[in-house]
Amino acid sequence: MRLTKLELQGFKSFADNTMLAFEPGVTAIVGPNGCGKSNVSDAVRWVLGEQRARLLRGAKMEEVIFQGSSARRAVNLAEVSLHFDNSEGQLPIAFKEVVITRRLSRSGESDYLLNRAPCRLRDIHDLLRTASQAGVAVIFASTEVDEILDLSHVVVTMFGGRVVATRSRAEVTTEKLSADMTMSRERVATAAADEEGALRA
Ligand SMILES: Nc1ncnc2c1ncn2[C@@H]1O[C@H](COP(=O)(O)OP(=O)(O)OP(=O)(O)O)[C@@H](O)[C@H]1O
Ligand SMILES: [Mg+2]
Repeated sequence: MRLTKLELQGFKSFADNTMLAFEPGVTAIVGPNGCGKSNVSDAVRWVLGEQRARLLRGAKMEEVIFQGSSARRAVNLAEVSLHFDNSEGQLPIAFKEVVITRRLSRSGESDYLLNRAPCRLRDIHDLLRTASQAGVAVIFASTEVDEILDLSHVVVTMFGGRVVATRSRAEVTTEKLSADMTMSRERVATAAADEEGALRA
């Protein structure tokens, strides 16, 4: 399954119908600050059902609709479509090309479509679950990469100058708590046994 095209219309800074084609291999989107690079990844998150406006860098979902610029009036509908090549049948649906679409109108009307037929967001999630379980698609913001690289969240174990294990602080805390509990349980068992011995004597 390969992402082949992203189509945007009325989404954030993409007022006009815009088609981005992704050829096999690595695709990088480059351009000056504010030209709309992040809006492209926002569009991918959005069409896949993102409900949190904050993760789309807005306060309200309506803000994804093109709000107008000095050169153009605002529009009333945002529409994004993702095209997948499904010729290898990784998506459990009998189409060689799968098109997932999300639409939002300023009046609040929201639609999801699968190959242009209205569907529920659940249908899209069910369809993509198989593919994502196979680890096919991950959306990563650069800030999330920074978080992973921030070693203050990670406990690194070194041995002979080599990193032998990295664990998150949460994992280490959980292990410590579980060790503490085992110790407490042993102490209770010992105390109970002592008590029993004292009663018998
Ligand atoms: N709803 C909207 N309507 C019109 N323009 C919008 C809308 N939402 C965002 N924009 C415009 O999108 C532009 C920002 O795009 P984006 O953040 O994708 O740029 P970028 O290329 O990622 O920039 P940087 O390199 O700084 O990260 C701004 O000019 C902003 O006004
Ligand atoms: Mg950006």
